[in-house]
Amino acid sequence: MGFFNWSAPAIRRYGERWTPENLKQITGWLRPFVASGSHVLDLGGGSGGLARRLTEELPVRVTVLDPTPELLAHIRTTELVSAELGSAESMPFDDDEFDALVVTDAFHHFRDVDGAVAEMARVVRPGGVVIILELDKGSLMIKLISLAERLVGEPARFFTPDGLCAFMEERHIKGECIRLEGHAYRYLGVVQKPWPAA
Ligand SMILES: C[S@@+](CC[C@H](N)C(=O)[O-])C[C@H]1O[C@@H](n2cnc3c(N)ncnc32)[C@H](O)[C@@H]1O
Repeated sequence: MGFFNWSAPAIRRYGERWTPENLKQITGWLRPFVASGSHVLDLGGGSGGLARRLTEELPVRVTVLDPTPELLAHIRTTELVSAELGSAESMPFDDDEFDALVVTDAFHHFRDVDGAVAEMARVVRPGGVVIILELDKGSLMIKLISLAERLVGEPARFFTPDGLCAFMEERHIKGECIRLEGHAYRYLGVVQKPWPAA
């Protein structure tokens, strides 16, 4: 049984951690890229805590894509919040389907980050936004967390902020990082399509 199957009750509680300040920041980052009826993807969105809160704050609909049925089962789907079983590396969506994509504390769990970023660039429209909240690989604390995650079979694919920016830009998503509290940072990038000629 995978890590997220047995840890699902704890991850569900963790998914409700968003404070009003956190939401103000996230909606502030999203707002320039969304309009009424825009479609947002919460990739690795677990039990949908953030998706629900985003629809309360912005005039958008949010789809959660996650491979863990034990988490998805707890999403209260509505007209504005939907849930899909699947993985970042092979998304069951059309090209350019989303105006914005968020990944919170999930990117380092993707087994194939190359494939996942290619899929992000495919499903987000040209000029759409990709926001990733992650933990800095450069910090000693995250090195220890990485070790612990590997012991339970997780890929622990952490990046430094500069490393993630470079990785995304090579894959046609151009952006920047800002540091947040603790060991966290936020990446915000815009999807560049059609690809500039090589
Ligand atoms: C630590 S939880 C974070 C959940 C939620 N984003 C949050 O911030 O509360 C990591 C999530 O990544 C999901 N995940 C793991 N591998 C994934 C993959 N390959 N594609 C998409 N999601 C994945 C897990 O099922 C889990 O819901």
